[in-house]
Amino acid sequence: MSDFRLCRTSFFLIIFLLSFYSHSSDTSELIQNPHARSLISLNGKWNRIIDPYENGYYNHRYEAHTNGYFKNRKPQTPSELVEYNFETAKKIDVPGDWNSQEEQLFLYEGTLWYHKRFELNKQQNKRYLLHFGAANYHAIVYVNGEKVGEHEGGFTPFQFDITHVAKNRENFVVVKVDNSRKRDQIPTVNTDWWNYGGLTRSVSVIEVPESYLSDYHLALNSTTGAIEGSLKLSNAQKDGKVSLIIPELHIEKTIKVKANGETKFSINAKPELWRPENPKRYKVILSFNGETIEDAIGFRTIEVKGTEILLNGEPVFLRGISIHEESPFGAGRAWTEADGRTLLTWAKELGCNFVRLAHYPHNEMMLKIADEMGFMVWSEIPVYWTVMFEDQAVYAKAQQQLTEMISRDKNRASIVMWSVANETPVSDARISFLSRLIEKARELDSNRLITAAMDTQSNAKNGKLIDDPLAKYVDIIGINSYCGWYSDAPANCANLRWNSHYEKPIIMSEMGAGALAGLHGEKNEIWTEEYQSDVYKHNIEMMKNMPTLRGVTPWILKDFRSPRRPLDDIQDFWNRKGLLSETGQRKQAWYVLRDFYRSIAQQDQR
Ligand code: GCU
Repeated sequence: MSDFRLCRTSFFLIIFLLSFYSHSSDTSELIQNPHARSLISLNGKWNRIIDPYENGYYNHRYEAHTNGYFKNRKPQTPSELVEYNFETAKKIDVPGDWNSQEEQLFLYEGTLWYHKRFELNKQQNKRYLLHFGAANYHAIVYVNGEKVGEHEGGFTPFQFDITHVAKNRENFVVVKVDNSRKRDQIPTVNTDWWNYGGLTRSVSVIEVPESYLSDYHLALNSTTGAIEGSLKLSNAQKDGKVSLIIPELHIEKTIKVKANGETKFSINAKPELWRPENPKRYKVILSFNGETIEDAIGFRTIEVKGTEILLNGEPVFLRGISIHEESPFGAGRAWTEADGRTLLTWAKELGCNFVRLAHYPHNEMMLKIADEMGFMVWSEIPVYWTVMFEDQAVYAKAQQQLTEMISRDKNRASIVMWSVANETPVSDARISFLSRLIEKARELDSNRLITAAMDTQSNAKNGKLIDDPLAKYVDIIGINSYCGWYSDAPANCANLRWNSHYEKPIIMSEMGAGALAGLHGEKNEIWTEEYQSDVYKHNIEMMKNMPTLRGVTPWILKDFRSPRRPLDDIQDFWNRKGLLSETGQRKQAWYVLRDFYRSIAQQDQR
């Protein structure tokens, strides 16, 4: 190898080796509304290195390089280690899961390294936050050769204050993302959705003043009718004054905010209330220390009264549909505005005023579009199936994801309920885990209802009995039940009766059947559109006889990728319970549900 090349290669090698020099900094608390701030987007092409054996992280003795591997040893001779070179590595799109970008990564579960050079015009009196919309599942982040932190959890944002390592002009970031499934994760190893790995949402460097308004929350108090909220400063050495302007409500306030902790406030106002038929949002302008942030916030109230769900004090029926965060234009994680608008337009065409964003927090754009288009939202964390409920470290992961979800989306009027679990098996450990999580959710956000999707109903003489002990802790009971698919013949569903130990509103959070779009036959032939349509007809008759039913989110808007659905020529790793095919082709059952929702909407208008 020529001297020049050896020298050049060793230069990159040393940069790469140094990039594991460990110097973790604090992960700063999540910044509210990052995309409304001054930012440098790192979206676009990144170098990538596929590393199934984590060679970039462990040496041949399986010792993590970050344990000082490079601190007290000179890098070995280049010839031994010249096997990584980000500069010449292939490129990959960020945001974007890796599975849908390269054939060899379709089923890949493991580590992939990302590398990106970026320029900064670094200012003295500014701080720089490296912000990730999400990385599935575990990310370790290095800037200019120093570890700045790591994050676990595939569907919530995280950030690191990189002011201490960022340079003026040339910088580079390296991220190790590992989507390996592990028993002690949230979710655990078994899920019915594709394990899309990678930097699946936007990455940006946010520039904020030395001390900045890091968090804010505004909501309508259902008792006083006032707009109440809180403001929080970060890195403030002394109390500050925040300007809050809501032009349409003729509100212009200067609020004194203490340097540490939250400052609460209350403003008398009579805003036009946000509701699906008229999703009114107000421009909110917040300024502090030279930074101005604009948001669009809707004001509404949501409560449960007996077995009714009240939106702005009026009973409401939630005409919903479940949605996975998958691109409407094929496969792969959805993340763009076009993805969100398309999925929610499909829901609108169905006649929905409600969507269950399953089974994890969707991207921030989706919630802003739901605010704008007028959808109430069920938002959930992936405490799904057989999580390790007896493990306190696993509880901490669930609580972290719950906190990050609520922190990010607390200003979204569309979100009316948080769900803490989906189809979790009954046990004392599960009740302890989930009741604690529910308590935490109520502590973090008193403005929304709490629910969970349950599939542990008992059989009763005339049908089913809702007796899951978890129902005691939620405001709304979610029921997942597949009459006509996983149990019973479709024709038996209409006569199924639902009994409950609890006087609470029920949402049928999942029902449905699979069908391959375009496959036709008799209604008793599984996988035909006729069969799926027949299941919907009989389940709709069943639901008409559920006196405390207050919403439905059938499973699911569109076919989606799942490793649990291998049936050749029918599923081919697609879960076929969509009312639409993976490319948006309507199946017969789509019309059955659409007509049912039209009839309900007409009744509501009478
Ligand atoms: C379950 C589960 C879904 C799954 C669905 C199915 O209820 O909550 O995640 O995809 O059933 O079996 O298709």
